[in-house]
Parts: sequence; C-alpha cells; structure tokens
Amino acid sequence: MKRYCVIGWPLAHTDSPKLHTAAFAQVGIEADYAAQSVPPEKLADFIEDFMAHFAGANVTIPHKIAVIEYVDGLSEAAKKIGAVNTIVNEKGKLVGHNTDWIGARDALEKVGGIELHGKNILILGAGGAARAVVYAMREAGAQVSIWNRTYERAQKLAAEFEVRPLQSISNENFDVIINTTSVGAAPNDSDTPLPNYGFPGSPAVMDIVYTPRMTRLLKEAQAAGCKIIMGDSMLKLQAQESFRLWTGKDVGFLKFEI
Ligand SMILES: NC(=O)c1ccc[n+]([C@@H]2O[C@H](COP(=O)([O-])OP(=O)(O)OC[C@H]3O[C@@H](n4cnc5c(N)ncnc54)[C@H](OP(=O)(O)O)[C@@H]3O)[C@@H](O)[C@H]2O)c1
Repeated sequence: MKRYCVIGWPLAHTDSPKLHTAAFAQVGIEADYAAQSVPPEKLADFIEDFMAHFAGANVTIPHKIAVIEYVDGLSEAAKKIGAVNTIVNEKGKLVGHNTDWIGARDALEKVGGIELHGKNILILGAGGAARAVVYAMREAGAQVSIWNRTYERAQKLAAEFEVRPLQSISNENFDVIINTTSVGAAPNDSDTPLPNYGFPGSPAVMDIVYTPRMTRLLKEAQAAGCKIIMGDSMLKLQAQESFRLWTGKDVGFLKFEI
C-alpha cells in the first residue's frame, strides 16, 4: 500500500486526509494518507526517512519554504513562488511542487467563471499565500496590484513579480479582489480586511480564508451585489492538483465535503 501524508506543525486540524482518502477510494487505489506533525527541528530527519516510506506529501505551515532545502528538485512554479506544498517521490528523488497557484487560478476561472486575462486584480496581503496568488494572476495575464498592512512587504513582493504595490485602494475600481491575509479567519471571524468598503464597480471577491467558509468580507461583498468565491474552492482545487501529480488521475475534488 502506498503511503502519503501532510506535514505541518502544529497540525491541529487539516482537511487534507479527508479529501485525499475520498479521492483514493474513488479511483480504487489502495493508499494511506495521514497527518504528520513534524516540528521544525525534525524536518530534515523526517524528509530523509520519508524517501523510503512515502510516495508523496503535502506540506503546510511552517515548512513550505524550509522544505526546499531537502528536496532534490523543484518545479518551475515552486521555484518562482519560493514555496513547496506538494512533494512527489519519483523513485527516490523528491520533487517539490506548488499547487496553491493552480488552486487559486482554477477557483476563480472554473468556480467563479472569471476570465482572468487582462483583468484589473487587487490582492490583499503579501505573505506566503499571496506569493502563489500573485504568481497565478501574472501567469493568467492579469494586471495585479498588491495592498498589504505592512506596505514595505507589498513593495518587496510587487518588485519581485513586477506588479504594482498600493498604499491606498480608495481611488480605483477593480474587476477582482482576492483576500490572502488571515484577517477574518476563526476565531477572529468578525474582522474584515476591508472595513467600510463599498465595493465600487462590483468586483468579484474571493477570500482564501476557509474557516469560516463565509467570511465577513464575503458576506459584505455579496450584500453589495458582488460575485463571491469561497476559500474552500481553492483548498480543494490545490488538493486536486496534488493528487493528479501523485497518481496521474483527475478527480473532481469540489464535490467532496469538508
Ligand atoms: N484556501 C487555501 O487553499 C489557502 C491556502 C493557503 C493559505 N490560506 C489561508 O491564507 C491565509 C494567509 O496565509 P499565509 O500563509 O499567507 O500567512 P502569512 O504568510 O502569515 O501572511 C499573513 C498575511 O496576513 C496579513 N495580516 C495578518 N494579520 C493582519 C491584520 N490583523 N490586519 C491586516 N493584515 C494582517 C499579513 O500582513 P503583514 O505583512 O502586515 O503582517 C500578511 O500579509 C491563512 O488564513 C491561510 O489559512 C488558504
């Protein structure tokens, strides 16, 4: 039986085992997918041991960057994003991929029905997840602006991906707004990254926060007449791409309950 896992620390709750176990069952592959809580100081040992025992893994906070040092190769996207969320064990060679960007792109295009090419897109946040989202929007041919609480981080990220940092978002209409900050995530679900915002021009709004699925930002955007896309779509679609990399099989993850 092939073994897979998600590596993180601390791993209090993760939906990955549920999603991948359902997918393996659907395609009739006998496999085990488990959550592995790996503290940072044990990451190197775990990855060494991993080669012999696991066919693949998902990688989550805080290991997405650190794990780059321990894999044998990187996909083009993982290299550019600077983070790995999926490892494929290719006959003892570990290849690091990033599927978050595909999850973000497909959530907007396939779930939201939004053609991204040429769109004016505002990305809120400049942390780890923002890197994958900025990369995705650039690859899709969108025009990207980044706003972040700490402007210097927006400036740095924008310079790296040759997009525009914004100090203020009040003077412009956007086609799409994507929240990649953790603002609005439980237990602080009464917060929003855009307080007192009128959603001028009725942009489509995606929140990548997925607990709760219906964040305050999305509730307010919906009430203002905007199309909304919830964070669990990105979560499921990045998992779908990891599964495809491991097995070569396309399974529709959106139908799985989490
Ligand atoms: N749906 C999915 O598949 C998916 C995938 C990945 C991540 N996520 C979610 O995305 C969120 C961000 O993850 P991450 O890995 O990017 O985290 P991160 O690297 O820690 O970045 C956090 C971002 O949120 C901003 N932020 C935090 N607290 C804030 C506050 N009180 N006010 C304004 N801005 C604030 C930070 O701004 P500063 O730079 O100013 O600190 C930074 O831009 C998490 O909720 C995570 O669960 C979802």
